[in-house]
Amino acid sequence: LKLRQKDGQLKGRKVIVTAGGTLEPIDPVRYISNRSSGKMGLAFAQAASEAGAEVLLITTSDLPVPFGVEVKRVETAQQMLDAILARYDWADLVVMAAAVADYRFSQPAEQKIKKQAEHQALHLDLVENPDILAQLGAAKTHQYLIGFAAETNDLLAHASEKLKKKHVDMLLANDVSKENIGFGYDTNELLILEPDKSPITLPLASKLELARKILLDVAKKIK
Ligand code: CTP
Ligand code: CA
Repeated sequence: LKLRQKDGQLKGRKVIVTAGGTLEPIDPVRYISNRSSGKMGLAFAQAASEAGAEVLLITTSDLPVPFGVEVKRVETAQQMLDAILARYDWADLVVMAAAVADYRFSQPAEQKIKKQAEHQALHLDLVENPDILAQLGAAKTHQYLIGFAAETNDLLAHASEKLKKKHVDMLLANDVSKENIGFGYDTNELLILEPDKSPITLPLASKLELARKILLDVAKKIK
């Protein structure tokens, strides 16, 4: 057990970490979601807490929360956005590790949807969710913003575009099509992008080791 270091690298810093895939309701008993486990976000919450930060974890995941970390449980992208905005001024650092659903149902049904008559197909209408990270990037005052990119192809090109478009300070990209990387695994391999810098690859390691390494580096940058 590693307790919070009172004189750690992030001592006195306020950190918001988001984790897990959002759940978007179809009706009272069904939802759509994605394969995010929340482990990368939990690793960042633990590493930040160990380094002496005050951590608010905003999560959809049921996994156990690291000791000493404040937790706010949410389900939808909209709830996640509201929870972050309520504390955005407070934060020095935001780690947006959640896999936010890009779409939600335009009109979640109030009652359970019944099977259609005569075996007919069911059509559901999706509308775009707010892009939380892009909103945070646009509203940034003093916060250091870390975003992620989950890609299955053209990692560098797609991730570079997200870095610019969302005005983040650091973008961590992972190729989720590879074995042992990203969704569900305890390990990851990350490509780190920062504005006006050459990309750096952090080779396969546990999510906790990666989070510790990255936060050490970030701590120096926000000094
Ligand atoms: N993100 C967000 N709000 C959304 C969608 C994504 O805050 N509605 C954040 C994620 O938490 C992540 C980053 O944006 O930190 C990139 O997410 P990703 O799904 O890789 O990229 P998108 O911009 O959604 O583009 P696409 O899914 O089309 O690749
Ligand atoms: Ca997306």
